[in-house]
Amino acid sequence: MSMPKPSAERFPRRASIDLTLAPHAAPPDEDVVEQSAGELGPTGRPLRYVPDPPLLAHHGPAKVLAMCNQKGGVGKTTSTINLGAALAEFGRRVLLVDFDPQGALSVGLGVQPHQLEQTIYNVIMERSVRVDDVLLRTCVDDMDLLPSNIDLSAAEVQLVAEVGREHTLVRTLRDVIERYDYVLVDCQPSLGLLTVNALAAADGVIIPLECEFFSLRGVALLIDTIEKVRERLNPKLEITGILATMYDPRTLHSREVMARVVEAFGDVVFDTVINRTVRFPETTVAGEPITRWAPRSAGANAYRALAREVIAR
Ligand SMILES: Nc1ncnc2c1ncn2[C@@H]1O[C@H](COP(=O)(O)OP(=O)(O)O)[C@@H](O)[C@H]1O
Ligand SMILES: [Mg+2]
Repeated sequence: MSMPKPSAERFPRRASIDLTLAPHAAPPDEDVVEQSAGELGPTGRPLRYVPDPPLLAHHGPAKVLAMCNQKGGVGKTTSTINLGAALAEFGRRVLLVDFDPQGALSVGLGVQPHQLEQTIYNVIMERSVRVDDVLLRTCVDDMDLLPSNIDLSAAEVQLVAEVGREHTLVRTLRDVIERYDYVLVDCQPSLGLLTVNALAAADGVIIPLECEFFSLRGVALLIDTIEKVRERLNPKLEITGILATMYDPRTLHSREVMARVVEAFGDVVFDTVINRTVRFPETTVAGEPITRWAPRSAGANAYRALAREVIAR
């Protein structure tokens, strides 16, 4: 007896399934509950009054902020895109630097990183390539992107042999720092040489922290690394703030973790807390910041509040 031949006929062809995501309109905005100064915020502290930032008469030199946490999936990339977009709404000129070979920041802004011929990798490794050769404009006015892709993973290895290997990003940014008000560097989830480069280039670090019990564990090591970089490479480096993300006000667990974070880190924790909402994964598919995808949503307003705090710090 012979085995039946595998044949297409046994699986009658149906209309082919389209796996591409059709562009669809953003769902209507949710109702927004505004909080005002004096009320107790999610951190359990009274909200500090943060005024709307003044308009700038001239621009630059930029403050460089590294978005850093060696844990993955805590909201670094999401916060880079949306804080950047919110800062731009306040009239700031913003450069986003994708410093993760995964290229998620680039994808989140609608760029296909594997199709790029040149990325930040070429800028940091090849003297002939300038930032302007690689820079992309984004869908947000006054917000530019230095994209990356998997090529950047080679830099980590190649840089080890270089003189001044920790200062490669500082040198790269020197050309454009005068043009921007903020440079946000989206770090990869590790404390390797790329992240050390970001910390060596930064004025401040923003640490996104997921409101989950285990997320507290790695923070001590991260703060230790930040202190070493400050002592040995970059005396101006400070922790701008800790940003609680993926907060769910309905769960006791989230509230407990929040209380622990505030107890451990005090005022360095931003009053602004980012709630867990499906709106953020949606924005990745849409390839644009939440401030454009769902401009009146609670998530968009949270990043605007964060931008106010960042400007005021
Ligand atoms: N506040 C949030 N609520 C729900 N999902 C979120 C939130 N922030 C980020 N996400 C989603 O979680 C995943 C990881 O976020 P991401 O910003 O890429 O983290 P990281 O850059 O730290 O790895 C992404 O799919 C993102 O869309
Ligand atoms: Mg990321």
